[in-house]
Amino acid sequence: MDGGFITGFQGFAEAEATHHPALAGPLGRLVDALESVESVDRNPGPTLPVVDEHLDAALGASTGLAGELLREVAHKVGWARPYPEHVGEPDMDALRASFAYAPIVGARDDGPAPLWASDDVFAGIVLQGPDVIYPSHVHKAAELYWVASGTARWQRGDEWTSHGPGALFFHDTGVRHATVTGHEPTLLLFAWVSDPASVPVIIRH
Ligand SMILES: [Fe+2]
Repeated sequence: MDGGFITGFQGFAEAEATHHPALAGPLGRLVDALESVESVDRNPGPTLPVVDEHLDAALGASTGLAGELLREVAHKVGWARPYPEHVGEPDMDALRASFAYAPIVGARDDGPAPLWASDDVFAGIVLQGPDVIYPSHVHKAAELYWVASGTARWQRGDEWTSHGPGALFFHDTGVRHATVTGHEPTLLLFAWVSDPASVPVIIRH
């Protein structure tokens, strides 16, 4: 696989830093980390029902450079469900039935193989189906999220706002966040630009 996606992602992150000067730090870390990724020789990865049902429509509705980047790789990645440790909890079973993520760049661990290997950044795709609540969670990783398609309600800290295609979010270490979809799925490009091996923790009250 050529490096077209990686140089495109770097160029996108650099352009975003000019539009969002407050995020120049994390975006710069992403650009730097993408400099030293290695292509992974791999077979096509696994898919999931939510992907088969919603990915093509969500990709078709995707806008901007995030959408272009996702269209380049979305049919080459392998998909997984998060939070296996929460199986049997009704809200988490509902999330896992209609939520999938796919590594594009990251460590080669026991999940689907990324397209490019890196120990410095974990970047990938999230597809969250319609009417799905991804509960509040935190992680040590500092996280960038771009919305490629779909408008959803987002929590960051104590604030809830509605965002659609083109939005860029930054969740710094330990900032609680959540995503709630309405009638349409949302397709996201994410990058963990610190602590890529950290583990998200659901917040239970
Ligand atoms: Fe997160």
